[in-house]
Amino acid sequence: AARAGRVEFRNVTFAYPGAEAPVLSDISFTAEPGQTVAIIGSTGAGKSSLLGLLPRLYDAASGEVLLDGVPVTRLDRAEITQRVAMVPQRPYLFSGTIGHNLRFGKPEATEQELWEALTVAQAADFVQDKAAGLDSRISQGGTNVSGGQRQRLCIARALVTEPKVYLFDDSFSALDVATDARLRRALKAKTADATVIIVGQRVSTIADADQILVLDKGRIVDRGTHEELLESSSTYQEIVES
Ligand code: CTP
Repeated sequence: AARAGRVEFRNVTFAYPGAEAPVLSDISFTAEPGQTVAIIGSTGAGKSSLLGLLPRLYDAASGEVLLDGVPVTRLDRAEITQRVAMVPQRPYLFSGTIGHNLRFGKPEATEQELWEALTVAQAADFVQDKAAGLDSRISQGGTNVSGGQRQRLCIARALVTEPKVYLFDDSFSALDVATDARLRRALKAKTADATVIIVGQRVSTIADADQILVLDKGRIVDRGTHEELLESSSTYQEIVES
């Protein structure tokens, strides 16, 4: 059987309600199970908007977003959340314990599953260091953990649900380069069969992707591997050098 988690955008155009100019124009790409597709581009290029179309935070104005060949507009929310986990740009922790937060998408997860997810997310150490471990309280909005810890807890929360598709929106930006590298190595091993779409600002975060999409003003202006884009894309070169 074909592995699940294939994502396809077909000529997708999108504008925010009330806005005239489209934020995304004619976006087409495919991400296969086992692949990592990275999206890079300047601020406001439309990267977060693109990710949001898969879990239906918004719907395309024209074109189609398909999950395993089915337009997401024909799937119900439960079917989508079962298969797709998104770590948003400003990941949110709610008031409760670390365990509550990690079990958000899978209430029945065992402690062992939580620790496995924390280990991959490079968060096991700091949770272990807390006297109450998984029972440590998180304050509303996660204000009593650092930005990098918040990102890692939210990555762990996504891992717990074992989705077919991971969407990471700039999820590694608050991590130092070494932690970022360790996390992505562990993630790669853990999510080898999954489809990973990752928005990244740092070249080291995206350089090993199977395909990189260079987004500019809502359009894919270039695509390829890191090596190919270094040769062919002046926009990519500018981003790398900045
Ligand atoms: N936008 C909007 N309404 C929203 C979110 C975004 O009108 N609710 C607009 C933004 O002002 C921007 C464009 O949509 O002009 C693209 O935004 P976004 O997809 O967030 O761009 P990113 O490439 O993700 O930008 P960043 O790197 O800054 O996160």
